[in-house]
Amino acid sequence: MGLFTYRFIEGLTEAEKQARRRALDNYGLAAQLSDLLPVVLILLYRLTKWVVRERVDGSANGEYAAVPSSPVMKKRREEGVRSWSVRKRRLRWWLGEDVVAAGHVYGQRDQWIVGVVWFLWLAVLSVKDTGEDYLHLTKRFGIVAVSQYPLQYLLSLKSLNPFSYLLKSSHEQVNRWHRVSARVTTTLLFIHAALYLNFYIQNNRLYRLGVPLVLAGVVAFFFLNLMLTTALRPVRRFSYRLFFITHLLLAISIPFLILFHAAPARPYMIQALLVFFVDLISRKMDTVTGHAKFESIPGTNLVKLSAAIPHVKINRFRGSPGSHIYLSIPAAARATFQDPTSISHLLFEFLFNPFTVASVGEQESEVTMIARHNGGPMTAALGHYAVLAKQQQQQQQQQQPPSRSANSLSIPDARNEGKIPLNIEGPYGSVTHFPNLGQFDRVLLVAGGVGATFTVPVYKSVVAENPNAKVKMVWSVRTAGDATWALLREGLMDDENVQIYVTGVTEGRTRGGVWDQQQQDGGEGSGAEGTEMSRMFRRRSGSNSGGSGGGGAGGRFTSLHNRQRPDLRRVVDEMFRHGQEEKVAVVVCGPEEMARELREYVGVWVRRGRVVWFHKEGFGF
Ligand SMILES: Cc1cc2nc3c(=O)[nH]c(=O)nc-3n(C[C@H](O)[C@H](O)[C@H](O)COP(=O)(O)OP(=O)(O)OC[C@H]3O[C@@H](n4cnc5c(N)ncnc54)[C@H](O)[C@@H]3O)c2cc1C
Ligand SMILES: NC(=O)c1ccc[n+]([C@@H]2O[C@H](COP(=O)([O-])OP(=O)(O)OC[C@H]3O[C@@H](n4cnc5c(N)ncnc54)[C@H](OP(=O)(O)O)[C@@H]3O)[C@@H](O)[C@H]2O)c1
Repeated sequence: MGLFTYRFIEGLTEAEKQARRRALDNYGLAAQLSDLLPVVLILLYRLTKWVVRERVDGSANGEYAAVPSSPVMKKRREEGVRSWSVRKRRLRWWLGEDVVAAGHVYGQRDQWIVGVVWFLWLAVLSVKDTGEDYLHLTKRFGIVAVSQYPLQYLLSLKSLNPFSYLLKSSHEQVNRWHRVSARVTTTLLFIHAALYLNFYIQNNRLYRLGVPLVLAGVVAFFFLNLMLTTALRPVRRFSYRLFFITHLLLAISIPFLILFHAAPARPYMIQALLVFFVDLISRKMDTVTGHAKFESIPGTNLVKLSAAIPHVKINRFRGSPGSHIYLSIPAAARATFQDPTSISHLLFEFLFNPFTVASVGEQESEVTMIARHNGGPMTAALGHYAVLAKQQQQQQQQQQPPSRSANSLSIPDARNEGKIPLNIEGPYGSVTHFPNLGQFDRVLLVAGGVGATFTVPVYKSVVAENPNAKVKMVWSVRTAGDATWALLREGLMDDENVQIYVTGVTEGRTRGGVWDQQQQDGGEGSGAEGTEMSRMFRRRSGSNSGGSGGGGAGGRFTSLHNRQRPDLRRVVDEMFRHGQEEKVAVVVCGPEEMARELREYVGVWVRRGRVVWFHKEGFGF
């Protein structure tokens, strides 16, 4: 007995087997080609929008002056367009809301809706024309699932991601759909595996699980589940490395196992591997080695690193403020502080951490990043280099030849210049796909902590393009020192449109214990900049007004010892109160909680029909 009306049909003729094979191949292909449908729909939508805009512009130019002639008709038409636009905006906003269950966020509504529709469509393709043939149904789920692999891999690409261009988005944003695709295909493969298992059990053929061809499929399925489990948010939070290394290795091995397991799946697996490796090659070609200077920021666990990069590349950074790079440390730079045969040395081969380019040199070909030591291996290494740079500086000041302390890191090749070679891949990011922020009536940029590495360059570029732009940046930091790099060095010190809230204590941070110790060893923690910041904050807190975090001074800045966050609801309401017709852009980069809260407050205005462009910078929310 099979499943419902399905039967185990024995003794099919060769012609019947051929027909089944053809049906399997055709439906696999149909499933893959149907992936193009959303692409076509998006392009059609764009085309329609463009045509409509052309017509409206034409009308504004007088081409359509006669249509409609009556002011009543014209008003009615405008109202119709407006109410349609409001509905569309509300729907788009609603689709972007988080799906929360038991206090945890499980993606956004659009991901769930697309995921369910996508799954149902593929399930239809898996069932259609399978008759009563249980094995046909079983195999169909398999072939339809693997037909999605090329798309799934395409959606995960960093460098050559076609969807980034199509959706005008960064690869991080596109990655949301990679996750949806992975869940859909794994569900289909789960059904495929379950149906086969049922077949083996009911026909006393469990021994077949040991046959190499079948075993490859079983192992692939096990790997798939391992991949999905290690990609879960709690695991990623526990160890990003565990997720990353498992994901990478399994992403390469699963297609090879499936290649061996099922011949009809080969074209799809080859396509998936091809796009994966082509992207990898492109990423390698786009990686440059830059020699970096390190500096620790007093009283914080921040490291400032400025890396020289080739002239040919610098313009790409200049053209995309707020972009980020993937940083890795070449073996040469870590040879002397790590045993080359150790596990941690090997681990570094898999470290590609994203950091935002906080500023790009105007004269020199140099990019600057500000990195917070988060306790992980990459930021710990950056912290080590900063401590070492400080020690070298002190030694030079004392006119002593540089020496190695017992546990110090040594700077390899570039030691004489005090610079460390770093591999820099990028730039990446969504800024290149941003609308022109200058076209908005108001722009609100909100940053939390080191998230300002994104908002500061965006702020500066908006102001540079249009000095009269109504742009406001609200930045919440734990300590005054966290803002030094931008206020003292990026010229934001006396900028009235930049509001800073200090929510914690002024003393050095305690989160990165190791780092604090190293800072002390390196003699950091109370430099001139720290003193300058304290003075500046006192000065500004006494002279400004308007924010919620008033502290004792009642100003835009909190009292240095007063833990108070910016009142984001108030900030948002103030931004939107100026005029019903004003278009507002809101950009946030910082802790997830901050971004979520801000979205909630902005949502109130979207529901009231306001034109809002909202962007939450980040990854893996
Ligand atoms: C687009 C982007 C830009 C960022 N810019 C900055 C910045 O300018 N300054 C700053 O201090 N921090 C920034 N971060 C956060 C920074 O990447 C992590 O704090 C850092 O990688 C942690 O490294 P670690 O060695 O301490 O810990 P790890 O264990 O290596 O990583 C800890 C966390 O960092 C994130 N992470 C690490 N590697 C990756 C990766 N390849 N892709 C995506 N996320 C990863 C994950 O959330 C992970 O859980 C940014 C993050 C993103 C996604
Ligand atoms: N391009 C990017 O995607 C990018 C770039 C850089 C950083 N980041 C991310 O940005 C985050 C910054 O981390 P960090 O360690 O630097 O931050 P942090 O030091 O913890 O500072 C965060 C600040 O924001 C405040 N805050 C948090 N939630 C808030 C809310 N709901 N309303 C108002 N204020 C709020 C905090 O106040 P309290 O002190 O009261 O908590 C604190 O002042 C990280 O998650 C990092 O990955 C992303």
